[in-house]
Parts: sequence; structure tokens; C-alpha cells
Amino acid sequence: MSLLHKLAFLVILLFPASWVLAEFQRGENGMVSSRSDIASEVGKDILAQGGNAIDAAVAVGFALAVTYPSAGNIGGGGFMVFRTAEGEVYTQDAREKAPLAASRDMFLDSNGEFDRQLSRNSLQATGVPGSVAGLLDALERFGTMSRAEVIAPAIKLAEEGFQLNADLANQFQNNLSTFQQYPASLQKFSNKGQAYVNGDLWQQPELAATLKLISANGRDGFYKGPVADNLVASMQANGGLITHEDLANYEPVWREPIHGNYRGYDVWSMPAPSSGGILLVQMLNMLEPYDLNELGWGSTETVHLMIEAQRRAYADRAEHLGDPDFYNVPTAMLTSKEYAQQRFSDFNPDAASSSEDIGAGSWPQESMQTTHYSIIDAKGNSVAVTTTLNASYGNKFVVPGAGFLLNNEMDDFSSKPNTANGFGLIGGVANEIQPSKRMLSSMTPTIITYEDKIFLVTGSPGGSTIINTVLQVVVNAIDHRMNIEDAVTSPRFHHQWQPDIVRYEVGAMTDQVVDELNSMGHKGLSRSRFSLGDANSIMLIENTLEGVSDPRNEGGVAGF
Ligand code: GLY
Repeated sequence: MSLLHKLAFLVILLFPASWVLAEFQRGENGMVSSRSDIASEVGKDILAQGGNAIDAAVAVGFALAVTYPSAGNIGGGGFMVFRTAEGEVYTQDAREKAPLAASRDMFLDSNGEFDRQLSRNSLQATGVPGSVAGLLDALERFGTMSRAEVIAPAIKLAEEGFQLNADLANQFQNNLSTFQQYPASLQKFSNKGQAYVNGDLWQQPELAATLKLISANGRDGFYKGPVADNLVASMQANGGLITHEDLANYEPVWREPIHGNYRGYDVWSMPAPSSGGILLVQMLNMLEPYDLNELGWGSTETVHLMIEAQRRAYADRAEHLGDPDFYNVPTAMLTSKEYAQQRFSDFNPDAASSSEDIGAGSWPQESMQTTHYSIIDAKGNSVAVTTTLNASYGNKFVVPGAGFLLNNEMDDFSSKPNTANGFGLIGGVANEIQPSKRMLSSMTPTIITYEDKIFLVTGSPGGSTIINTVLQVVVNAIDHRMNIEDAVTSPRFHHQWQPDIVRYEVGAMTDQVVDELNSMGHKGLSRSRFSLGDANSIMLIENTLEGVSDPRNEGGVAGF
């Protein structure tokens, strides 16, 4: 570890009050890292019973809907990257879809102005949920255990309850006034209207009943029958668009993985409708000609290079990326070494480029939520899953009688050209709203192999910052040869082309580096109000699994 990097660690140990100690584990037989220690234990138990990584991933996915409700979900969507021990890689798109009644201008008011409230805090903001169909489809295709076996732990947790820790109790307390808008939300997240406190038993009987229907009837337990009836009734009563037809028609899609090669390591990640895999490979390709190890972690040269790669890749995101079923995404071009070389040919080692000032957005004012978990089993099957309701607790609406939260993923569309969404991201035609289209995502579940052997399983929440978090974990692990704990814990920075500013965590760069970047013309360098990402990751080093839950948040790693 360089002196600079040691200093950065000292600084982050001293400052961010919200961080927790990184949980770290070694194991030979299986490892699960997620945002919830309870959910990670559920996954480990499934592995210990002889289940494979997919069995565990499905069990963890349902468990997170119970134990980490701000992002774990059955009312949202997600992406899965799965690599078999034999080396085949599959990517599953369980992203939400726009309802059939959705239209391009649905979030514009009578003056043609973008209505942020409608696009984020309404039932119109909800996309047709994909998580349940996705998890069950993965289980049917690659799992070894029954649906009842893998959903049972989530049902038990919802029915019998579990003790709230300070993290969850505080979240419920902080969101209480928002939950008060909707009776079923208040009922679920408060103790008869009063704030829950640390240590309270939290039971979710309606969610347990919904999970039992899914366990008994498969996808029909969610997309048809009483759960669907309750969801559609909520839509009809609150101006939402999702119909029985939307629910019955929802299907996850298995897509061709994004594949790149970076310094001999194979990178496998999520294709469109996520921008994650494409941008990750594009940025790695731009950085590959430079010796980042020699330039040093956190040095002005390295940070400048990475910001410039981020600027170009995120600009391409706005122009070229959307749902490939509706828009011709130039994936091969964007992920090719030739394109990266050409795109980076105007890189100036001494000066910042300028992001064109096209309708610059603003940074999100609240922490955006999504969650990522990583799993490797004893045989070497590995799974990376990122799942989301979009904003923390989605649109905050719990479906009465069904006990689960709805997403507000429609805000990930580009509702008005060059007008920022909740993540300050802008876009155009490629990501405009169309019926049944999937909204563009930044989720970047990623598996990295070296000489056909697993090296790293990673991913992160964080909206637009997700891709840069994954980039930095990967560069830390490959270029700076850090172990998994250091690769994940090291402070990060983020630039996304527009708005043309750089945010960084305490310790990500010294004052001297900030001064030098300023004098090179980088704009708006500022300390981030929020931590960047939550990269629950696993590395395989000499046949030993090393797992870490990101210290930026609570979480748990469970290995054996
Ligand atoms: N909702 C965040 C994302 O999918 O990128």
C-alpha cells in the first residue's frame, strides 16, 4: 500500500461518523455478502444445506425484501450476472417495464415542464415489477432447491419477525412523516403510529401472506390472484397505470453479457437496459494504456485520468443508451478497444476537458437506494445481483393487503430531453418513455475472472454513482493489487459528465491533489455529503474466498 493510500485510510477512519467497521470473512465453501447480516446468513444456510449459488441468491433476494425494505424488494426490479463453475456466463434482466398505458410525455405538465413530483412520488412513477419473475425464473433454470425451500426463510422472518437494529429503526423514524401519507405504509413501518425503536420486534404479516402465495403458486402468486388484485386496485385508486394485463405479461429476459478484457482479466457485466456493464468496460478500455499502479492510487495523474474517462463514458450514456428492445444501442462499438482509443484521443494529461453545458442537472438531494449482493458457492458458481426500488423505499407506497412497497423506477427514464432525473442524469430519445419499455439503469453487477477462474464478484447501489464505484473497486483490485477489504473500503470519487462537477469522499484525494485538479480546470470539486456506494464483494485468492461488506453501511458477510 502506498504512503498516500495509508494516509487516506487514516483519514477515513477518523472522519465519516456514519461508517461501520468493515465485516470481513474468509471461507473455503461458500460466501455471501449483502447489505443485511440476516439475509447473508439466510444465503449461507442455503449453501450449507447443499444449495448452489443461485438457490442462495434467490433466498437472499426474498429475504432482503423482508430485512432491508428500503431497497430489497418484490415490488421492484433488478439484474443478475451468473457464472457457472464451468465458465458459462448468463445475465438476467428483471428490470421493471413501463405500463402499457405509459406515454412519452406523461411526466410533463400543461406547460411542457417536467413534473418531478409525479415522476418520483406517485403511483404513476411505478414500473411493472420484475423481481419476483426474475428470481423464480433463475431458480427454475439454474437452481437445485424447490421454491418452497428458498422462500421459507423470508416467510419465517416476515411472519415471526426479527429485532430491528438501530440502522433500520432510524430509517423508519426518519421516513415516518412520508409513510404517514399512506395508511398501509404507516401500518407497516410504525408501531401503531409511533416510531419503532432499536430492539423492537418487527413483524410483517401481510408480506408473509404474499410470500406464501408466491411460494405456493410461483409467479402467479404475485402477477395474478389477490396480490395482483390489490396492486391494481391501488393503481386505480391513486392514478397509477399498471393493469392486470401489464402484470400477467411481465417476463424477465436473459441477455448476452457484456464482456471486456482489462489487463488480462475478463470482465463480465450487465448489458443494456443497464448502462453499467457498457460504461465499466468502456472506462477500463480508456484507462488500460496507462500504468495506474505506477502513477499511484489517489495521485493527481490517476484521478485526472479516471475523471476524464468518466466524463466521456457518461456523455455516451446520455446519447446512446436505452432499452435495446426499443433502441439500437451500439454495444459493440462502445465496448471496443478501438472506440476507447479514439474517444480518449483528445485526453490532455495537463488539463481538464470541458463537459458541454447542455441543460446541466443538479445533484440528488437525498441518498438514493438500491442494493447489491455477491455470492460464491463451493463448486465455484458465482452470482452478482443488484436490485432496487429506485429511491429509498421506492415511492413509499405499501400495497394495502399485500404488504410490499412499490418502486418509483419510471424516474429512470428520460422524461424530457436534457432535463435531469433524480440522479442528475440526462438523456434523450434512446431512453424516452414508451409503453412496455425498460428504463435505463446504472446497476453494474459484475464478475471478474482471471485465466478462467473467479477473481472478483462485485456491484453497488448509488444511482448514477454505481458504475464509478464498481470501476474503482476493480481498479483497486487489479491495478493497485489491493485485497478485497482495501479495494472496497478505499474512498471514492465521482464524475458523470453533467453536471460538470467532481464529488469525493473524505480521503479520496488530498488537499494538494484537489488544488492541482482545480488548476488543471476541473470544476466543482467538493466533498460528497453522502458516502459513495456500498460494494458488498467477494474475492477468490489462492482458493480462499474473502468476503467483505462495505463499511459505508451496515451489512453482513457470511462464509464458511
Ligand atoms: N434506479 C437506479 C438504477 O437503476 O440505476
